This record gives sequence, structure tokens and C-alpha cells, in this order.
Amino acid sequence: MKVLVTGGAGYIGSHVVIELCEAGYDVVVFDDLSLGHRENVDHRAIFIKGSTLNDDSLATAFLEKPDAVIHLAAWKAAGESMTDPGKYAQNNIIGTINLLNAMCRFDVKTFVFSSTAAVYGYPQYLPVDEKHPVNPINYYGYTKLVIEENLKWYSELKGIRFAALRYFNAAGYDIHGRVRHRERNPQNLLPIVMEIASGERKHLDIYGNDYDTPDGTGVRDYIHVNDLASAHVQALKYLKDKCINLTVNLATGVGYSVLDVAYETESVTGQRIPYNIVDRRPGDPAELIAVSKEAEKILNWQPRYSDLTTLLKTMWTLYSS
Ligand SMILES: NC(=O)c1ccc[n+]([C@@H]2O[C@H](COP(=O)([O-])OP(=O)(O)OC[C@H]3O[C@@H](n4cnc5c(N)ncnc54)[C@H](O)[C@@H]3O)[C@@H](O)[C@H]2O)c1
Repeated sequence: MKVLVTGGAGYIGSHVVIELCEAGYDVVVFDDLSLGHRENVDHRAIFIKGSTLNDDSLATAFLEKPDAVIHLAAWKAAGESMTDPGKYAQNNIIGTINLLNAMCRFDVKTFVFSSTAAVYGYPQYLPVDEKHPVNPINYYGYTKLVIEENLKWYSELKGIRFAALRYFNAAGYDIHGRVRHRERNPQNLLPIVMEIASGERKHLDIYGNDYDTPDGTGVRDYIHVNDLASAHVQALKYLKDKCINLTVNLATGVGYSVLDVAYETESVTGQRIPYNIVDRRPGDPAELIAVSKEAEKILNWQPRYSDLTTLLKTMWTLYSS
């Protein structure tokens, strides 16, 4: 079976490509390299440089005759999406609709989509499950929700079978060290503490220490990229076997606070993580954790590498080298 992976040179995509190659799939990576690294693409995959915004280059990718598409190519910076929504509408909405239309033209019916926790918005209860109302509070989350909604229509009208995978905070690097180049423009806590430990950044700003959490700092659910990658392979198998659409969370149900992360980073790296407490950021919930019972039940998937120590150790391998 041949799989077209858009954004396959990116942070999560390069791990998904390795997992697919290991599982015996033929892989075609389609990436415009705006943020990806060509060197992170597994040598077993075919690489095509191109953008979902260009119909001709999409057609080149589909001439490889893929049986399924895993679509990761998108912008993902929630803050930037609020100042430059047009950039996000163009890439995340129009780019994805172009891709779906190309799938229809080339008669490819199986689609795995990188969605996000940001579709839920401010949590009304915890842990967040798939029945939680969707109400994004940033434009990025809205672009992903728009595609989830479109997928229902493309399924009904064009016979596309889809898996929408709602990732929580992706973190870590390949446990076997096969991904050698770091994510470009990372904005999450774990890359930031790694930059401090490796001397590239001076200190950590902690946005509030008076939340209703055990140590007062925000608590989040982090999921290892190798765990995310294995869920994509399971989702592909499920869609091929069962032909039933699914929308599932990919998370651990376990939360770590900002201070947990800072202290564990000190212990993993042997470096100090100096921090300042600054004002809360608008829209940040005290805690955001989720359950993945649906993925466990339907996909027979469980996170294996998402404990904080493994997350940080696999990152430190890259940041310390
Ligand atoms: N990283 C996270 O924590 C997280 C959480 C939830 C969802 N996601 C989603 O997962 C996906 C992958 O995220 P990532 O962290 O690997 O990001 P990333 O920026 O590292 O990877 C995205 C890749 O897509 C490519 N790309 C962007 N626009 C393109 C286009 N129009 N055509 C072709 N290639 C294009 C980039 O060059 C890059 O290689 C995104 O859709 C993102 O929204 C990520």
C-alpha cells in the first residue's frame, strides 16, 4: 500500500514517515520545505517538493498513485493565526480543500488528518473527551474545525473515509535518534526549556503561578511524537479494514505542570532552568488534559513513550549534540 504524506518533512511528519516505512508501507512525501527538513525524510520514501496550494505539483504527487493520504501540511502557531488569519486560511483551509479535490480527481478515498486539541477551546470539563463541545478560541483551531466539518461533507458526497486525529501537545524526538534536525520555530514549553538547557536561551517566562493546580502553574498533556506516529499507522489500517470515519483524541490523560517540566529538565540535562513568573496570558486554561479512550478502543492504541522523562531525554539527545 502506498501512502502520500503531506508535511512529511516536518516535525511530526518525519516521525510518521519512519513509522510507515518500518511497517512496510511505500511512502511518498510531499512538502514545500517551508518549515520541514529534507534530511529528516526517511531514505526509503520518495520525496516530492511541492505545495498543496499548487494544483500542478499536487497532480505530480498523485501520479505516484497513492492509496491513501496522511495530511500534516499546515501552519500551527496559534498566536500568529490571530494576527495573520489570512495566512492560516490560505494554507490550512484552502490548501486542504485543494488536496481533497485532488484526491477526488485521482480517486483516492482514504484520508488521515492532523487535527488539534485547539478545536475544543476553553475546557468546560476535564479530562476532555471527544464529546466535549468544540469552540475554538484561536483562528488556528478554527481552521482545523472547518476541515473536520468539510470532511463530513466530502465523506457523504464523495465517499472519502477519514480519520481526524486531535493531537494534544506533541513533544519528544524519535526514540532511536533517526530524526536529526530540530523543529523550526518551536513555540511550546518543552523546546523552550531545551533551548535554555543548551544555552541558546537565558530563562523561562512562566505565565502565572496562581492557577488552581498543585503548584500554581499551568498543567498540560504531552504526547510523544513516536506515539503520535503509531496512531497514524493504526488509523490507516482501521480505515482500510472497516471503512468507518473516526475522530479521536491523541493524548495521555496525564498532565505535567510548567514547574514539573522545568525541574525534570534540570534532572535530565544537569543544567539549571532559571525562570521568572510573569502575568497570565489571556485564554490559557489552568489545566488541559484529555482522554484517548476512543483511540484505545477503536485503534488499539496506547501511548508508550509519553512519560515526562522519556519526552525530555529524547529531546536532550538532539539539543545536546
Ligand atoms: N506540533 C504540535 O504540537 C501539533 C499539535 C496539534 C496538531 N498539529 C498539527 O500537526 C501537523 C504537523 O505539525 P508539525 O508540528 O509537524 O509542524 P511542522 O511545521 O514541523 O510541519 C509542517 C510541515 O508541512 C510543510 N508545509 C506547510 N505548508 C505546506 C504546504 N502548503 N504544502 C506542502 N507542505 C507544507 C512544512 O514545510 C513542514 O514540513 C500540522 O497540521 C499541525 O497543525 C501539531
